[in-house]
Amino acid sequence: MSRWQATDTPDLTGKTVVVTGANSGIGLEATRVMVARGARVVMACRSVERGQQAAATLAAGAGRTEVHALDLASLGSVRAFAQALKAPAIDILLNNAGVMLLPYGTTADGFEKQMGINHLGHFALTSLLLPKVLAAPRGRVVQVASIAHRRARLDFNNLMCTDGHGYSAMQAYARSKLANLLFAFELQRRLEAAGASAIAVAAHPGVSATNLAGHFSKHWFGRIARGIGVLFAQPAADGALPLLRAATAPDVLGGEYYGASQWREFRGPPERVNARPHAYDLDTAKRLWDASASYTGEHFLALNT
Ligand SMILES: NC(=O)c1ccc[n+]([C@@H]2O[C@H](COP(=O)([O-])OP(=O)(O)OC[C@H]3O[C@@H](n4cnc5c(N)ncnc54)[C@H](OP(=O)(O)O)[C@@H]3O)[C@@H](O)[C@H]2O)c1
Repeated sequence: MSRWQATDTPDLTGKTVVVTGANSGIGLEATRVMVARGARVVMACRSVERGQQAAATLAAGAGRTEVHALDLASLGSVRAFAQALKAPAIDILLNNAGVMLLPYGTTADGFEKQMGINHLGHFALTSLLLPKVLAAPRGRVVQVASIAHRRARLDFNNLMCTDGHGYSAMQAYARSKLANLLFAFELQRRLEAAGASAIAVAAHPGVSATNLAGHFSKHWFGRIARGIGVLFAQPAADGALPLLRAATAPDVLGGEYYGASQWREFRGPPERVNARPHAYDLDTAKRLWDASASYTGEHFLALNT
């Protein structure tokens, strides 16, 4: 079987795509391909200036880009973004933005930063944009996860590591990426139960050369990871392929997970992969969903109508 490539991305003319963290790394590479294939891509970026600079590097393709401000570390910013977005329907919501190995800190709403930005910000954003995703003929929500989810444990008694209690930068990142997967699979179950035509899927880029390392070079694991990265990382354009496949390939089914498929999923062509069993645990997923709704005040009302 031939390997799936960027050129396999179908024609996206007339489609509206929202990409969080679209100004850098794999988000920018996925945006590059989708614009070339005709999509209108809303680049949701923490800094509009960095977003515009990144957009200027994209070749004039068949599609177009718009840069909008979105700071996932602030529920106020998430709500303002969702309210300002002019689009009758969203065909693809690519929840890609992320941070890694930050020292302990909190978001504007008091959430531990890695859980707050990587998971809770996207949870709230998805809830707010879901009516538009449901308005598309077969909308898709894609969570960007990581092989780091494998070693994660969720402690519901201390999900936010309040005041830095029990905080480990590596474990906090891993937990946020496990949360991305639990959320993707639970959202798929709820979409299915609601009889929606939209689907939820997940993807991971293996180990890819991006700016993610910039956040953690002072951390011991960061220095090791940087060394591994120099040796093993694939180009960001290759890391974007599992995202592109999950977001656009016509044969993708709800609940599937795509990732780099070789070398313990560090790199290689984008194929269907399996998360570790704890990412599919129904009780944990429901508990996380309820906790996330309670933290963010966003309750996916579109699923109840
Ligand atoms: N690279 C890898 O090997 C790897 C492996 C597994 C998973 N991932 C995942 O891939 C995704 C993309 O990361 P990347 O590797 O492409 O890293 P990257 O180059 O650092 O890109 C991360 C993007 O997220 C944005 N971002 C960070 N904090 C944000 C916030 N509060 N609100 C909105 N946007 C924010 C960044 O904006 P700024 O430019 O303004 O900082 C940037 O656009 C992440 O979810 C990451 O966990 C990456």
